Amino acid sequence: MAVLNVITLENPNLRRRATRVPKVDDAIRTLMDDMLDTMRAHHGVGLAATQVDVHLRVIVMDVGDAVHQVANPEMVRAEGEQIGYEGCLSVPGYIGKVARAERVVAKGLDRNGRAVRIKGNELLARCIQHEIDHLDGVLFTDKLVPGTTLMELSPEELEQNTDVYA
Ligand code: NI
Repeated sequence: MAVLNVITLENPNLRRRATRVPKVDDAIRTLMDDMLDTMRAHHGVGLAATQVDVHLRVIVMDVGDAVHQVANPEMVRAEGEQIGYEGCLSVPGYIGKVARAERVVAKGLDRNGRAVRIKGNELLARCIQHEIDHLDGVLFTDKLVPGTTLMELSPEELEQNTDVYA
């Protein structure tokens, strides 16, 4: 287990499109575990492999219900709408208002290579959409609600807003 370096906005690799994982093997499991360590070290709720400069379709999430480590995640269903603040470990110190589906179902492979479906509402739904976007080189800053701008957080606000980072 290891905490990996998280790349930020100025690194063009954040815009790379990740490729599918051909097989969930020990190397992928190690990546998933290191990503979880990295996410936790930064008090995030989600992380995509793109953010640790690995361009494979792998995401990890934990919004407080369970740990999800998913290879080749794909959206199956998206319903409703939620508008809320979102942040990103690759855009440190800022949040912005983004519209997302309220309820989603995604599918992918778990750490044993078995097919899984993840059903998420609210924060988990937001997180799934945010992480899959990362794998396509898309950032939340691309999707701000029209008429709104990125907001810089003060150090005190940063302390209180750690749970929106993904
Ligand atoms: Ni992010």
